[in-house]
Amino acid sequence: VAGHATDATAIAHPNIALIKYWGKSDERLFLPRTDSLSMTLDIFPTTTRVRLAPGADQDAVVFNGEPATGEAARRIAAFLDLVRERAGSVERAVVDTENTVPTGAGLASSASGFAALAVAAAAAYGLDGEPRALSRLARRGSGSASRSIFGDFAVWHAGTDDLSSYAEPVDAAAGLDPALVVAVVNAGPKEVSSRTAMRRTVDTSPLFEPWALSSKDDLVDMRAALSSGDLDAVGEIAERNALGMHATMLAARPAVRYMSPASLTVLDAVLQLRRDGIAAYVTMDAGPNVKVLCRRTDTDRVATAVRGAAPDSAVHIAGPG
Ligand code: PMV
Repeated sequence: VAGHATDATAIAHPNIALIKYWGKSDERLFLPRTDSLSMTLDIFPTTTRVRLAPGADQDAVVFNGEPATGEAARRIAAFLDLVRERAGSVERAVVDTENTVPTGAGLASSASGFAALAVAAAAAYGLDGEPRALSRLARRGSGSASRSIFGDFAVWHAGTDDLSSYAEPVDAAAGLDPALVVAVVNAGPKEVSSRTAMRRTVDTSPLFEPWALSSKDDLVDMRAALSSGDLDAVGEIAERNALGMHATMLAARPAVRYMSPASLTVLDAVLQLRRDGIAAYVTMDAGPNVKVLCRRTDTDRVATAVRGAAPDSAVHIAGPG
C-alpha cells in the first residue's frame, strides 16, 4: 500500500481487569463469554517496533534483546499472518519488542504486548488505524489486549462476531483517584496458560455459568460505581468478581489454582487494612500475584502492609495511565 510507513513503533501498557474476562465463546476469533472492564496502568510499558523486511522468507522476532523462540514466536508469527492476510501482503517483518513486565505471570504482559504489536503492525502494513479497529485486531493476539488500546478505564463488549467484539473507553468520575499496589509474589511464568485454564473452566466447572451470569450484574454495578466515583464500591465489586472467577477455576476438573500461600497472606493483610479503615480491595489474574486497589493517598500505607505480609515480594504502584 502506498503512503504508509513500513517501519513503525508503538508503546502500550498493561491493563488489569476489574470485571474479568474468563472463558471464550469462540477460540479462533477470541470472542469472550462475558463483557469485561479494566484499568490501564501507567507502569510496565511494552515498546514494539515492526519493520517490513522485503525478501525475507520468515519473520524475525527479538524479545528483550534475544531472538524469540517457541510459543511466543509462534503466536507473534500467527498474528502477523492475520495482519498480512488483511493487508494483502506477503512481506515478512522484523519485530523488536521490549517488555518491562514479567511475562506469563498473570501481570497482563500479553495485553501490553499484543496491543503494542497490533498498533505497530497495523501502521507498518497500512491497516486501519482507528482505535476500534485496532482493539479488534489486538483481541486476536490476546483477548485482554483489546482493552490496552485505550488508557484509563475500558469496557470490552463481548459481541457475537469479529466486528462486534471490541473495547472502548469508559468514563469515571474526576474525583475517583484510584491506584493499584501490585504485589509480585512470584515473577516466574505460570504453570497453566490462561488459554488452557479458560477452556477447562468453561468445559468442566459447574460454577462457570453462575459466575458468568453474576458478572453481568457486576458490570452494571461497576459502571455506576465508576461514574459516581465511589471507590469502595469499585473495590468491592472488583474483589467479588475476581474471587468468583478464581472459584470457577477451583471447581474445574482438574482444578486450576493460581493462588499461592503468599497470595493468601496478602489477601489477609488487605482484610486487616479494611478493618483498620483503609479502603483496600484485591484483584487477581491468572497467576499468584495480587493487585490491591486503593486510594492514591493510601498507597504508602497499603504498600507497607503488603511488604510486611509478603517480604519476598516486589511491590509496584500504578495509577491509571
Ligand atoms: O487475554 P489473556 O489470555 O491474557 O487472558 C486474561 C485473563 C485475565 O487476566 C485473568 C482476566 C482479564 O480480563 O484480563
